[in-house]
Amino acid sequence: MRRLVSETTVRPRQLILPMFVAEGLSEPRPIESMPGVVQHTRDSLRKAATEAVAAGVGGLMLFGIPATRDATGSAATADDGILNVALRDLRAELGDDTVLMADTCLDEFTDHGHCGVLDADGGVDNDATLQRYAEMALAQARAGAHWLGPSGMMDGQVGVIRRALDDAGFTDTAILAYSAKYASAFYGPFREAVDSQLQGDRNTYQQDPANPREALHEIELDLAEGADAIMVKPALSYLDVIRAASEISSVPVAAYNISGEYAMIEGAAANGWVDRERTILEVLTSIRRAGADLVLTYWAAEAAGWLD
Ligand code: PBG
Repeated sequence: MRRLVSETTVRPRQLILPMFVAEGLSEPRPIESMPGVVQHTRDSLRKAATEAVAAGVGGLMLFGIPATRDATGSAATADDGILNVALRDLRAELGDDTVLMADTCLDEFTDHGHCGVLDADGGVDNDATLQRYAEMALAQARAGAHWLGPSGMMDGQVGVIRRALDDAGFTDTAILAYSAKYASAFYGPFREAVDSQLQGDRNTYQQDPANPREALHEIELDLAEGADAIMVKPALSYLDVIRAASEISSVPVAAYNISGEYAMIEGAAANGWVDRERTILEVLTSIRRAGADLVLTYWAAEAAGWLD
């Protein structure tokens, strides 16, 4: 009877698995603050991606960790940069049956760890960064990404990327806009995951956790600029924002169940303080219930197996 009247579904195809691939690794490297998640080698990425697809996940979101970083994030736009190489690997391995997504942001590639290039005063230069995002988007589209995920919260990023893609003939490459991305302490473990060089914070470009109305403004701008899906991030402390986004969005709404949310549950479960599987399924259900059509989660492949 409970199943008959259940109002919310979580299906494997609604889950997207974020994955990390590092340049020059000989073995996958565990990320201590994210038990069970690793920085992949090119080979282990191929294998793990194939397994995730077999488990039924709807998509993969790729992050790259380069061997060398510089002020402008050169490795992000180089065709032989790790993220672009890995996209080619996966596109060759998986073809068109799995939606392949890439993080379109410079922070993994810059030596200062910010999501954009800096001006003379050390602040992030919004408009100079847009140019770099356009170049990065083209490199990712050439490498075979189906969806690009601009996550840097620069004003105008969706429009600039859409125009660059269209002008180069990549009219079918879609944009998953990180529209409402909050300056969150829950990104902590991600910093370890990508060996981030960041000092300070991202408060000049990510949103204040106190502001729900601002999220709706950001979403409206991204929709007008051509976003094919929008995202709220993090998920659990922002379920109200997901709900509000789902009420105004004319495109699918994604939510990112981020590294710190993952780490809290893995930590508590490892201590026997919560039932791991039940907690994970409750979290995924709550994000869907709030109104997210798609959920990015480091549990995507494992949860898909349970849900199948
Ligand atoms: C930026 C980016 C971040 C995450 C995804 N894309 C880090 C940040 O904005 O500080 C965080 C994801 C997570 O914490 O799981 N490229």
